[in-house]
Amino acid sequence: MKKWTALIMALLFLGGVSALKAEEGNKDEKVINVPVVKEYKVRMGTVNFPHAKHILDLQYNCGTCHHQKKVEKDGKLEPVPMTLEKVEALAAEGKNAFQCKTCHGDLDRKAFKKLFHSNCLGCHKSLKAENKKAPTKCKECHVKPKKKKAIEGC
Ligand code: HEC
Ligand code: HEC
Ligand code: HEC
Ligand code: HEC
Repeated sequence: MKKWTALIMALLFLGGVSALKAEEGNKDEKVINVPVVKEYKVRMGTVNFPHAKHILDLQYNCGTCHHQKKVEKDGKLEPVPMTLEKVEALAAEGKNAFQCKTCHGDLDRKAFKKLFHSNCLGCHKSLKAENKKAPTKCKECHVKPKKKKAIEGC
């Protein structure tokens, strides 16, 4: 059974946190190391994308964000979710199915920002519109490193 469910069961987290153990004896299971947090250090302020939180706490499927392509449907671009078959096909070509640049190219800052704002803010804004909680303000995602205060008396 080559499905995302098998994948999710086999999730192991980088940094030594193993969340869910793979079931024994299931040969079709793949172990994919997923980042807990992806850090983007940019001028606007560092974005710490809580990847694991979106998967474990918020229970989004991998395919919500990881797509093979997007197709137009009723004037809107709808994602075609990534499948394990496609992950393997790309891996056979030496490509990483989970990195945006694999298909969108080595983007410049502006293009990368557009892609990410469209993906992240697109979802957060539609949730806000339904009166649900999700960060949409710049400073809720972009955090400038705090300046250390001088120690008193020194
Ligand atoms: C809310 C959106 C979202 C969900 C849901 C999600 N991911 Fe991701 N994932 C991302 C983004 C964004 C990145 C960073 C991609 C980049 O910087 O190119 C990423 C990165 C990764 C990476 C690291 C790629 C690398 O080598 O740098 C892996 C592996 C991965 N995801 C696997 C998964 C799996 C497996 C699931 C489901 C269990 C999942 N993701 C669910 C958005 C998501
Ligand atoms: C396996 C290939 C593939 C991967 C990997 C991939 N995409 Fe895409 N994506 C596409 C294709 C194909 C389209 C539709 C054509 C287009 O607009 O580029 C698309 C369209 C999009 C769009 C809508 C068009 C736009 O420019 O606003 C967004 C947003 C997007 N992708 C974000 C991401 C993000 C974020 C990641 C990494 C988590 C990612 N994609 C990874 C293939 C991919
Ligand atoms: C499919 C919808 C969806 C996508 C795509 C998505 N998010 Fe979220 N995000 C959520 C929801 C839902 C929450 C939870 C809001 C809450 O309850 O606090 C959240 C919360 C967050 C939080 C706050 C976490 C906390 O601990 O309070 C950050 C930061 C965040 N997202 C960043 C991102 C970034 C960066 C991306 C793109 C790489 C992204 N998100 C993509 C739905 C999404
Ligand atoms: C949901 C989280 C989120 C919110 C909210 C958000 N951003 Fe971003 N932003 C990102 C991510 C992720 C990137 C991509 C980081 C990269 O380019 O590596 C990015 C990139 C950028 C960049 C390009 C990188 C740079 O500093 O040159 C700028 C500028 C930017 N954002 C400005 C803003 C502004 C202004 C707002 C408020 C209107 C905002 N962002 C709100 C997540 C967010």
